[in-house]
Amino acid sequence: MTITGNAKVAGVMGWPIGHSLSPRLHGFWLDVHGIDGAYVPMAVAPDGAREALRALPRLGFVGCNVTVPLKELALEAVDEASDTARRIGAVNTVAVGDDGRLMGDNTDAFGFRANLEAAAADWRAADGVHVVLGAGGAARAVVVALLDAGAATVRLVNRTRARADALARDIGGRVEVIDWDGRDGALNDAATLVNTTTLGMAGKEPLALSLEALPPQALVNDIVYAPLETDLLARAAARGNPVVDGLGMLLHQARPGFGRWFGVLPEVTPALRAFVLESASAGG
Ligand code: ATR
Repeated sequence: MTITGNAKVAGVMGWPIGHSLSPRLHGFWLDVHGIDGAYVPMAVAPDGAREALRALPRLGFVGCNVTVPLKELALEAVDEASDTARRIGAVNTVAVGDDGRLMGDNTDAFGFRANLEAAAADWRAADGVHVVLGAGGAARAVVVALLDAGAATVRLVNRTRARADALARDIGGRVEVIDWDGRDGALNDAATLVNTTTLGMAGKEPLALSLEALPPQALVNDIVYAPLETDLLARAAARGNPVVDGLGMLLHQARPGFGRWFGVLPEVTPALRAFVLESASAGG
């Protein structure tokens, strides 16, 4: 769609930014809703990120997304951060207020939960124990989402135990840390298994994990989406476990930002998934 001089402008800051799917994703919604708006990629190196964010109001932006490696830095740069963003320790969505103040939020926890609820109608966080592999930024969002949704216990398994201990300490709540060597046994009694590590991603090492102890009804979610069907999801599906891929989290996390900037809360539809996947397989 052609835009006018009154177009609302948002975008995504990251370094590098060329592989981001967000411009295509937001562009699809702008088209579908016929909105006079634009969403642009912004390649911003970490040493210029604070200045770039602080310049958004003067450039007339309504806000922006922030991605790797700028999310933690963005938490420091905004004027006000939501409780969720502070607990996760990172900002992925910035809105410029009418007064020019920068409001930071983190919608990854929303995206994780909305994706599971949309893909598995009978999944409930309050049911049972949830096993989370990894303790990076993505794991923080997943653990916050699970606890806020009513999870009784999160079992957190990470190669570097100190990082998992730090996550449990920072977030609080019912997080039980388990050593990486104990990951196979940690699946016993699990209602959900979530991989937030980079293992299994195209070009990375495979995830070495035996699913023998995993109950057959446990939901398995990989937040890796390249490839869309990871080896973990293929093995889980082959033994009959319900599986949810990682693309949905990316699509759902984008909804609240779009709603705030452009005034319409958009939906994740099969057409959107197909459109975004088409660009992912074409190399971004
Ligand atoms: P993000 O912020 O996107 O979650 P990250 O901070 O780089 O990414 O976290 C990557 C996760 O994958 C971490 O939990 C990391 O484990 P460590 O904390 O021990 O580094 C995990 N990971 C990466 N490579 C791994 C490997 N070869 N074996 C086990 N875990 C690995």
